[in-house]
Amino acid sequence: MSSSAAPQLPEAPWVLFRIQLPSMWDESLVWLLAEHDFGSASADTTYPAGMVATALPSAAIPSAAWPCEVCVSVAAPRAPALRAALPIWLAQLGLTEQDWHCHEQPHDVAAYSDPSLWQQAWKPFRCAGYVVHSDFHALKTLSLRATDIPLTLKTGSAFGTGSHPTTRLALKTLHKWCADGPPPRLLDVGTGSGILSVAAALGGVKEVVGMDPDPFSAAQANAMAALNGVSSACSFWRGGFESAAGQWPAVVANLVADIIQEGAGSLGRLVAPGGKLFAGGILECHWEATASALAAQDLKILSRSGCGRWLAGIWVKS
Ligand SMILES: C[S@@+](CC[C@H](N)C(=O)[O-])C[C@H]1O[C@@H](n2cnc3c(N)ncnc32)[C@H](O)[C@@H]1O
Repeated sequence: MSSSAAPQLPEAPWVLFRIQLPSMWDESLVWLLAEHDFGSASADTTYPAGMVATALPSAAIPSAAWPCEVCVSVAAPRAPALRAALPIWLAQLGLTEQDWHCHEQPHDVAAYSDPSLWQQAWKPFRCAGYVVHSDFHALKTLSLRATDIPLTLKTGSAFGTGSHPTTRLALKTLHKWCADGPPPRLLDVGTGSGILSVAAALGGVKEVVGMDPDPFSAAQANAMAALNGVSSACSFWRGGFESAAGQWPAVVANLVADIIQEGAGSLGRLVAPGGKLFAGGILECHWEATASALAAQDLKILSRSGCGRWLAGIWVKS
């Protein structure tokens, strides 16, 4: 079925719509919700057991049989409009009333937006030689080893808390590069929160520049550099890597495979002869195509590392 008959909900300023539908339609529904000003929805697909382990390219193709749920929270006065729109949209997508189901429940948004809740859940962690902690942890509460480099995160929305496997692979590489003798200059492509730039500067790189098209990135990265006392070594701007110039002895590009492949020419030009490139955010099934695109730019693979399904590599420019 379709939308349950208008439920009698207790007084609540927000209503959570949980819409179960066949996989492959979730992206269209998320797009429709955003287009009609119902806000950002999340979509979750329940993958068959073992799929992640097989990691074959064909296994990445969604199957309609996998159950999927799209969740969106709307202010109560908007709920009737969404209740009316859903059957129309889903019919337009070709789904019958048997194909989908909508469950509504009151949503205490205030409880979820209380910052103290996620702040309690967020724990500092060690990665390579860095101890990554947030600006709401007092440094003196962390038990640091003599060799630890504290790396303070600035709270914000740009990508990069250090908890993602790709960021961890990049941090490990930076720590090794710096321990071996920091490169004099480093370019951080897709800087996000600024975590890699700041880690490089803390490791002794004297000039670090980073860019990201995310409108929140540069401000957050500048604030993070200031928190860590490395502002004088770091500069950030808003833009894609196409906007970067010069040739760099060290480049970190923790992006995703398709952006690395499409931008391989630009990335290749940014690495100085003899310079090193770290490229990460590459799912195993995209490794061959990404490595070939970089090889075509005179970049020779030195090493490959992995964490879960994510791979990263270090290349040197001939
Ligand atoms: C996986 S995040 C990495 C963030 C951070 N460097 C880290 O390692 O945690 C990739 C970042 O690349 C940015 N990005 C996407 N397209 C880009 C482009 N063409 N040029 C530069 N950055 C880009 C995204 O906005 C995102 O912040």
